[in-house]
Amino acid sequence: MNNCIIVTGGAGFIGSNFVNSWVKLGLGKVVNLDKLTYAGNLANLVEVEQHSDYVFVHGDIADQDLLAALLAEYQPSAVLNFAAESHVDRSIHGPEDFIQTNVVGTFHLLQAVRAYWNSLTAEHMLNFRFLHVSTDEVYGSLGKTDNAFAETHAYAPNSPYSASKAASDHLVRAYHHTYGLPTLTTNCSNNYGPHHFPEKLIPLVIHNALADKPLPIYGNGQQIRDWLYVEDHCAAIRRVLEAGIVGEVYNIGGWNEKPNIEVVKTLCRILDAKKPRADGQSYLNQITYVEDRPGHDLRYAIDATKIATELGWKPKETFESGIEKTVNWYLENQDWVSNVTSSEYLNWVHTQYSERGEELA
Ligand code: NAD
Ligand code: TYD
Repeated sequence: MNNCIIVTGGAGFIGSNFVNSWVKLGLGKVVNLDKLTYAGNLANLVEVEQHSDYVFVHGDIADQDLLAALLAEYQPSAVLNFAAESHVDRSIHGPEDFIQTNVVGTFHLLQAVRAYWNSLTAEHMLNFRFLHVSTDEVYGSLGKTDNAFAETHAYAPNSPYSASKAASDHLVRAYHHTYGLPTLTTNCSNNYGPHHFPEKLIPLVIHNALADKPLPIYGNGQQIRDWLYVEDHCAAIRRVLEAGIVGEVYNIGGWNEKPNIEVVKTLCRILDAKKPRADGQSYLNQITYVEDRPGHDLRYAIDATKIATELGWKPKETFESGIEKTVNWYLENQDWVSNVTSSEYLNWVHTQYSERGEELA
């Protein structure tokens, strides 16, 4: 077994931040297996693409032959699964890809990893880890005064996305329980930061504000999410990989609960200061209330006590510091935004709003 890890989905938002940090921290070789769906973008990895510790492989986590070959060639000490279809609204319009990648894909990945793990020496079997990156959305929705999600909270997923992630979490659990595979599962709250695809709330609002387009608020904007800066999530994953107890689940969150409308108003005020509109008006004027998301979960919140007390992790960024860094990154990387908001993105915006009879472009 080598000082090497395989990461799946490393060309996406969180995966690319993870791979970039891993290489920059000099933690060893990382092989990135990514299918390059609309959400995967090799431009997210320009910082590391020439580095001798970085290898990119174009492929699907459901391809067991490819996985077997990669595992045999690189002999990794860990496999980290970030690959997924990740957008709730897309899962409402077309759930099939979510079942295929998040459920069937994770199953094939587990099968290949189990065969590899069984081929290792006893010592290497003991040291190997399969880390599955998941979401707080598997727990369903909280009322305003309910306790935040702890690891013991019952699963109650409400969207095709969260149901597919819940299914994958259950498979990971079963592979540990039944076959002894040394798994770790992390369930994290909403991330934000560089390389976030502008279909999700924060990058969408920044993009639309600068493009002089409406800022769509679903329903009344009072839904609450618990926001975590992406680099803090990456640090938590590294810590779980290093010190987590095999078979355990770790919830990761930012202790930053915010109603959507507050997040959007904060972004408008930061942009007003950093990049004022030509007409002197506030970006707040672009806020537009639109029809609610079907089955919209009211509130997510993570109780991150376990990872704090057992593994000593806590977030470094406050919401204020993280959101400022994020806005700066988008202002400095408008070419990246232009590249990812090309034809496929416009098709998505059209699909999302034409079915509601709303014009938002
Ligand atoms: P993303 O949509 O930005 O990226 C997903 C990546 O996976 C893309 O690079 C895509 O090309 C790749 N991919 C998709 N299907 C694949 C397949 N079949 N085989 C190989 N690669 C494939 O997602 P993200 O926001 O970076 O999320 C990464 C993981 O973290 C996901 O598992 C998601 O459920 C989880 N998560 C995300 C958040 C969040 O706020 N974004 C929060 C908690 C957990
Ligand atoms: P999103 O970024 O899609 O993440 P998730 O649904 O996984 O939490 O959405 C975050 C919140 O913002 C969610 O409550 C839905 C809401 N939202 C809007 O109000 N308008 C938008 O245009 C988008 C994309 C999301």
